[in-house]
Amino acid sequence: MAINIAIDGPAGAGKSTIAKMLAKELGYVYVDTGAMYRAMAYYFLQQGIAKEDAAAINAAVDGADVTIRYEDGAQKVLLNGEDVTGGLRTEQVGNMASSTSVYPAVRVKLVTLQQKLAKTADVIMDGRDIGTCVLPDAQVKIYLTASVETRAKRRYDELVEKGEHADLAKIAEDIKERDYRDMHREMSPLRQADDAVLVDSSDMSIEQVVSAILGIVKEKQA
Ligand code: DC
Repeated sequence: MAINIAIDGPAGAGKSTIAKMLAKELGYVYVDTGAMYRAMAYYFLQQGIAKEDAAAINAAVDGADVTIRYEDGAQKVLLNGEDVTGGLRTEQVGNMASSTSVYPAVRVKLVTLQQKLAKTADVIMDGRDIGTCVLPDAQVKIYLTASVETRAKRRYDELVEKGEHADLAKIAEDIKERDYRDMHREMSPLRQADDAVLVDSSDMSIEQVVSAILGIVKEKQA
């Protein structure tokens, strides 16, 4: 049976950085489910569909074929056969993904794809509902979080490093809004699974978080 590790938590908690490092260390496949919601959102934006337009979103879901490919261990997201990975990590696409991930048609489609992937390999999957909904039987479940201030500052530094314009207060506002939406939507909202271990990375370095989670994995495996 494939071994699964689920990492959930709010936007900007460092899930993908940490999950990628863990996957490398453990020799597992990393599955970034946020990128799948982002690819769907990218499609809706391309089609000029408004996030409130439930009818248009439901009608468009079937037209978006999202698939995953791995190149040198890195996840590539294909939308209708085209590699859109490079265009997914903008604030616009992230906010649209948070808004459109509330629609059951979007979730059912992507959860099915995620469950199929987890059956074929040992995976570390990160997202919002992995431990509670996608992989309820995952052997290890982590809820990775950090304060809004810490998450906003990390995102700010990331943008500044890329030479992009950044407004710390606006980023913090967006994070709060996104948290609220992700935690209060009707279908599979973000929450810590009862059997997940809480890791608060506010005052931890990336290396400390990776080593803490590796410790939890080893403990579970023993
Ligand atoms: O992790 P991320 O920022 O790339 O995710 C973008 C949005 O996608 C997030 O705000 C909510 C949604 N999402 C979700 O609903 N369920 C997941 N498993 C992953 C992401």
